[in-house]
Formats: sequence, C-alpha cells, structure tokens
Amino acid sequence: MTELLKNFKIMMTGSTGGLGSVLVEELNKSGAFLFVDYRDHEKFERLKKGVKNPDLLQGFRADMTNEEEVIQYFKEFKEKYQRLDVFMHIMGGFWMGPEIAETPLEKWNFMINLNLNSAFLCTREAFKIMKVQCSGKIITVGSRAAEEFPSHKGAYAVSKAGVLALTQVLANEGKEYNMQVNAILPSTIDTPENRKSMPEADHSAWVSPKDISKLIIYLLRPESSALSQSFLKLYGKQ
Ligand SMILES: NC(=O)c1ccc[n+]([C@@H]2O[C@H](COP(=O)([O-])OP(=O)(O)OC[C@H]3O[C@@H](n4cnc5c(N)ncnc54)[C@H](OP(=O)(O)O)[C@@H]3O)[C@@H](O)[C@H]2O)c1
Repeated sequence: MTELLKNFKIMMTGSTGGLGSVLVEELNKSGAFLFVDYRDHEKFERLKKGVKNPDLLQGFRADMTNEEEVIQYFKEFKEKYQRLDVFMHIMGGFWMGPEIAETPLEKWNFMINLNLNSAFLCTREAFKIMKVQCSGKIITVGSRAAEEFPSHKGAYAVSKAGVLALTQVLANEGKEYNMQVNAILPSTIDTPENRKSMPEADHSAWVSPKDISKLIIYLLRPESSALSQSFLKLYGKQ
C-alpha cells in the first residue's frame, strides 16, 4: 500500500479493541505516526509487535474516563510531537439488559461514563490543540443504535446518541478553526469478540474492521476535507 498518510500525526483511543487493532495496523501501513493510549501494557506490546513500522507507534498508559489521565495523555503528546492532525475516539463499550424501567443506575452511569464522558474529555483536549493550530480532524464512533434506539439497549443507545450530539457541537464550534468533525456509525462489526458471543449469526452480513479502516483512511486524506458534520452509516448488508 502506498503511504497515503505519511507524516500525519494521529492520536486514537481504543487501539487494543476489535476495530482499533485493525485500524492501527492499516494506519501504520499507510505511514501515519500514531500515539495511542492503552490500559494493559502487554496488549500494547502485542499490538506493536504486529505492525509493519513499530517506530511509528507510540503508547501511553491511561484510563480515558479519568480526567487527569486524559489531560496527561494529551500533554505528553503535545510536548513531544506538537502538531496534531487527527484525533479518533474509537474506544467504547456495550451493555444490553432489561428495558429502561428495570435499568439500574449503575449500568446507566457505566455506559454514559464509558462512551459519552470519555468522548467529552478526549475531544475537549484534542480541540484545544487543533484550535491553536487552526486545523485538524476529529472522528468519533456512534452506533446504529444511536439512530434507531432499540429496546433493551437504552443506556448504550443514549450514550452513543450523546456522542453524536457532542460531535455535531464540535463540528459547529470547529468551523472557525478550520476543523472537520465527523462520526462513523457502525452496525455489528465482524470482531473476534462478536463472533464469540454470536456464533450462530450470519457473519458475512457484518461490517469488516478492515473496510471501516480503509474508509477512515480516505476520510483523513485531504481529498475529504469538504466532509464535516456528517454521520456515516456503516451498516454493511445489515
Ligand atoms: N463491535 C461492534 O459491533 C460495534 C458496533 C457499533 C459500534 N461499535 C463501537 O465501535 C467502537 C469499537 O468497538 P470494538 O468492538 O472494537 O470495541 P472493543 O473490542 O470492546 O474495544 C474497546 C476498546 O476500548 C478500550 N477501553 C475500554 N475502556 C477504556 C477506558 N476506560 N480507557 C481507555 N480505553 C478503554 C479497550 O481497551 P482494553 O483493551 O484495555 O479493554 C479497547 O481498546 C466502540 O466505540 C464501540 O462502541 C462497535
């Protein structure tokens, strides 16, 4: 693959996950420099061993729901690498259970904290850097559930809808700083975790992490700079 993102400086969360790990591989092959967070050092080491250009992948241990650790992660990047071309908030989590009437506050808070608060904390810090440099792209991850609000996934769907609302606000606020802010909305992704939990499902209808990664690489290229305030539905054949 030609190095479509050579010299790009990218920060992203969720690098050790089902989508994130494939995305790291593809971004690394495309020549981008990546600064990722991780919680488990062994997982990061495995990720680094699997990429073509390990020098282009640096990590920082942090919990992205913790305000101080998020601030530290961005401070570290800024001091070492200065310019931030792209921030991608890939991390997130899923919970489904009973209807809202039976949803414990603890589960509700868990989803809001993991999906929405982490997105707020991270994009806030990314925005500060991009505002000063007057350029940058932010990509967040919503979900099909954030458009369709199915039963039994209430806390998850609302937390992801919050991420989309945040994305829209950032896109509006980022206009005067020459920023593009977009979200992707995947339906079920073909990850090892999903295959394990839904062995009987039709996996061929799911969205491949590699296809999502290729689309993201396209979104990061200068040719896509007209695209902003967009929620891209990646539903595959579902
Ligand atoms: N999978 C799907 O079918 C699907 C569908 C629609 C939308 N999405 C969204 O797509 C994104 C990626 O999904 P995925 O399936 O790749 O997720 P995943 O495999 O569960 O990976 C989640 C990632 O988030 C990280 N993470 C979790 N809590 C964290 C925290 N407090 N601080 C820092 N990192 C944390 C995990 O790190 P550890 O490795 O340390 O746990 C991991 O890297 C998520 O936003 C998800 O909601 C997924």
